[in-house]
Amino acid sequence: MKKDLLSIYNLSREEIDSLFVRAKEIKKKQKKGIIYQPLLGKTLGMVFEKPSTRTRVSFEVGMYQLGGHAIYLRWRDTQLGRGETIGDTARTLSRYLNCVMIRTFSQETIEELARYATIPVINGLTDSCHPCQILSDVFTIIEKKGTYQGLKVAYIGDGNNIAHSWIDAALRLGFDLTLACPAAHQPDRKVLGRAQQEATSRIEVTSDPSLAAKDADVISTDTWVSMGQETEYRQRIKVFKEFQVNTHLLTAAKKDVVVMHCLPAHRGEEITDEVMDGAHSIIFDQAENRLHLQKAILVTLMEGPEL
Ligand code: CP
Ligand code: NVA
Repeated sequence: MKKDLLSIYNLSREEIDSLFVRAKEIKKKQKKGIIYQPLLGKTLGMVFEKPSTRTRVSFEVGMYQLGGHAIYLRWRDTQLGRGETIGDTARTLSRYLNCVMIRTFSQETIEELARYATIPVINGLTDSCHPCQILSDVFTIIEKKGTYQGLKVAYIGDGNNIAHSWIDAALRLGFDLTLACPAAHQPDRKVLGRAQQEATSRIEVTSDPSLAAKDADVISTDTWVSMGQETEYRQRIKVFKEFQVNTHLLTAAKKDVVVMHCLPAHRGEEITDEVMDGAHSIIFDQAENRLHLQKAILVTLMEGPEL
């Protein structure tokens, strides 16, 4: 049966851990200059209904390095933009492609695509979650800290798609997660509720950023204004102003805290230049790892679980 990657919640801990093992191997090969092309002759379709720098480039380069090919499909330049159904699009694309990655607004759109497609479907971000991002973020944490076990991650900012994937990851992998979000911008109750019910670790939300940052091993943040929320900019900037990741906030954390941001960053808003460019920042290593982790996803979905 074909396997999709729609959310971290849908994966098991074993599946996630094996992606980390595979990503490490793939990265090692890449760094040594070893050609590794298990996806020779395979094609990935990449459908984008929202902008992207990292997701687009890392998937496209990843396919190329694995011996395959990627096609960029801007939603509104396809017949989807003129009303062709998701189901018919999924059935058609399945006849040409070996895998499809999609960035769109609603999670339901991705689920519908996956239902009709006979090829694997990868979530490249929805309003609900961003699984590829947080999988590669945890991979980065393992590189820097040796493990995710026993760590405390603090997420400061909007209870958005990134927050939801952090919650799913903490649930599946069992690390502690404290989110600091303004009262009106808490994570989705369903996502948080199921995690708190099923988790073996502490997953909690506060409205106090320094409480979240206290003794944290990792501090992560994201934009205050996600794609599609541009008209709320002025109001959001006010509401989130106490939720900035700055040097003062870092003093509450462990001395060797690492700072993460999925990017794109809005310097001077959710994070200061000083922190972004400072000694604790691992933000660009984090960005690089999108490539390696997603190559592991592509090989796993198109080739099967064994390396
Ligand atoms: N972090 C991330 O997904 O970046 P892009 O929006 O540039 O793809
Ligand atoms: N929350 C952000 C993440 C960007 C990668 C957004 O959805 O715009």
